[in-house]
Amino acid sequence: MPKSPGGALLQAFSIERGTSVPIYRQLDASLRRLILEGTLAAGQKLPSTRELAQDLGLSRITVKSVYEQLIAEGYVQAKTGAGTFVADGLEIETKPEIWRARQKLTMPDIEISERAQTIMSSKASVRYGETEPFRPGVPALELFPTRIWNKYLLDAMTSRNRQNLSYGEVNGSSALRASIVRHLADARGMQVDADQIIITSGAQQAFVLIAFVLLSRGDTVWYENPGHIAGRDVMQIMGSNVAPVPIDGEGFDLQFAQRTHAKPSLIFTTPSHQQPLGVTMSLGRRLALLNYAKENDCWIIEDDYDSEFRYRGRPLPALSALDSERRVFYVGTFSKSMFAAMRLGYVVVPPALADSFAKARNLLGQSSSAVVEQALSRFMDEGRFVEHIRKMRRIYRERRDVLFECLTRDCSAFLEPQETDAGMHMLAWLKNGLGDQDVHRALLDAGIESLPLSVYCIEPLERKGIVLGFSGADTRRIPRLTKRIADVLASL
Ligand SMILES: Cc1ncc(COP(=O)(O)O)c(C=O)c1O
Repeated sequence: MPKSPGGALLQAFSIERGTSVPIYRQLDASLRRLILEGTLAAGQKLPSTRELAQDLGLSRITVKSVYEQLIAEGYVQAKTGAGTFVADGLEIETKPEIWRARQKLTMPDIEISERAQTIMSSKASVRYGETEPFRPGVPALELFPTRIWNKYLLDAMTSRNRQNLSYGEVNGSSALRASIVRHLADARGMQVDADQIIITSGAQQAFVLIAFVLLSRGDTVWYENPGHIAGRDVMQIMGSNVAPVPIDGEGFDLQFAQRTHAKPSLIFTTPSHQQPLGVTMSLGRRLALLNYAKENDCWIIEDDYDSEFRYRGRPLPALSALDSERRVFYVGTFSKSMFAAMRLGYVVVPPALADSFAKARNLLGQSSSAVVEQALSRFMDEGRFVEHIRKMRRIYRERRDVLFECLTRDCSAFLEPQETDAGMHMLAWLKNGLGDQDVHRALLDAGIESLPLSVYCIEPLERKGIVLGFSGADTRRIPRLTKRIADVLASL
């Protein structure tokens, strides 16, 4: 029988006093590690509790309780009169190097589901953390009134109503839903009931819920081309047939869609400010679309992601405000008007579907926090939200104007910026046969973040372009940055 390893074993223990990790936990971890690494082999005898306690200067009770735990878990076995031994027949691949090598070898063989394979091919952005100037869709985060927001957050956290610390309501906070109802009436001309609103963790979760509740495999979805990337990919993952529909001067080309594609179950649109081309859908096109949905018994998504920022005239009422049939799922987000890390958005659903959406939201992960929902509701009710939007609208308009001017002045040999009356980004068509992917990569190397128009496309467009976000770019830095863009494009 192998002997107890005594001195060699003692060397292997790392017991530190004066740390926050209790001694018994350190001893337990050391023994497990020695067994898993194979330093203590199967059948090997452990020192007696008395010996180990003495050698390590611990109390015998501590050592005994650790041994008992390891016996209970099957790492070691006690043999009456003989001592304690590392258990036989443990099929553990001991050395960490072997574990790592094994994982590498077996990873490629793991079969992921068909659905997950589609996820892997998604072009939706996976760049997090620090962003470079001109990344589309990034608000002026440095100007967010953090101190004021903190106050609302703290109040929601410490309020006497401890319900905020719980799961919250199945369709999201009723206070926030009521605040959104008022906001939609004032800002978007919509008359909806709070029961029709489902709070989500952003627009993306709203798309997931809509696809989950409404779409069956093989259903057709008419989708703007170019269009919002992450929304498109969700529809595809859900197994639907995503059919590209071009954008003309009035928005979604309904006639093209009717001529070309099978009847849809769902139509995805961004009527206020087409993502990414920036066209506002005409009234005629809106009415035609609603009429089509009514006559053909299908649904429409209105993704109203950045309509708060309109720089000329008053914002047009939402498409949903014209919808007497309740065919439109209106999707709103606070990612642009506040900040994306808040993870709050909502979807207005037809009354008959409110229950299915609430249940789906609950089961698929109730991912927004009741505390944040409560804070946002008061932030809106006390006028802070509108105040912030007004301030940002002024700043974004200035940033838009400066970017347009500077691009026209510095880069007109290479690109043609498009004027935009709304939103947080502008499109620039590329000249001289420049490829949008090449331009995107070269600019990124120079610390500038554009998006190539082609990633928004299901079917390629004839013209190449890049999308530049102006909302997150400090006005004073823009002239220097556009000069840098000109240098990069000249070098291609
Ligand atoms: C067209 C469009 N819709 C919605 C969103 C917002 O998504 P979320 O609310 O999930 O952050 C974005 C963000 O980039 C967008 O571009």
